[in-house]
Amino acid sequence: MGDRRRRVAVLISGRGSNLGALLEATRRPAAAAEIVEVISDRPDAAGLDRARGAGLPAVVVARSAHPDRGSFEQALQDSLDARGTELICLAGFMRILSPAFVARWRDRILNVHPSLLPAFRGLDTHRRALEAGVRLHGCTVHLVRAEVDAGPILVQGAVPVLPGDDPATLAARVLEVEHRCYPLALELMAAGRVRVEGERALIDAPAPDGRPLINPPA
Ligand code: GRF
Repeated sequence: MGDRRRRVAVLISGRGSNLGALLEATRRPAAAAEIVEVISDRPDAAGLDRARGAGLPAVVVARSAHPDRGSFEQALQDSLDARGTELICLAGFMRILSPAFVARWRDRILNVHPSLLPAFRGLDTHRRALEAGVRLHGCTVHLVRAEVDAGPILVQGAVPVLPGDDPATLAARVLEVEHRCYPLALELMAAGRVRVEGERALIDAPAPDGRPLINPPA
């Protein structure tokens, strides 16, 4: 790999706050990844402006412009190939990728999900976490598999659920931790510090100190 940075495409559908965190982190001269393009399936995604603001290609591949998923994914693939993309970060990308696309990019697609997987796969995670009465919630950055919200886990960040939380306050607390976890996961992947064995990721990183996270505090 040498000094060459891994070329990354970020796929979005919306506001792009995780894209913003990835852009900021990859601006560091020592970063192992560089973002080379941003692709949105929605022309009105606010994240496209962030990409333009960073001087990056902001590409729209609209699902409605394609007769079927195969043609949509071929357009994605063409754009990825044109930029020599090596890694894909899904950051609020609301389309499910086909098994064939995921297989072609096996262990090279990352996603951030707003829960501590495998709990609360799918949508509306914060409301469901509150309903379940969990005391700790958080986010997961994982490698993408054909099964939605599954795949080797790279980084997780936990936050306490606080008295009086509603889905919006909890989402905001989780989002902050997403913005720390996603850049870390990308850096680990891009630097070649992740080995995938079966459905587990083995990570070459300092071990945590083992302190528990307890809520409510004892
Ligand atoms: C995040 O909560 C992420 O976990 C989920 O979609 C949301 C995207 O937010 N997959 P943003 O567009 O990055 O601000």
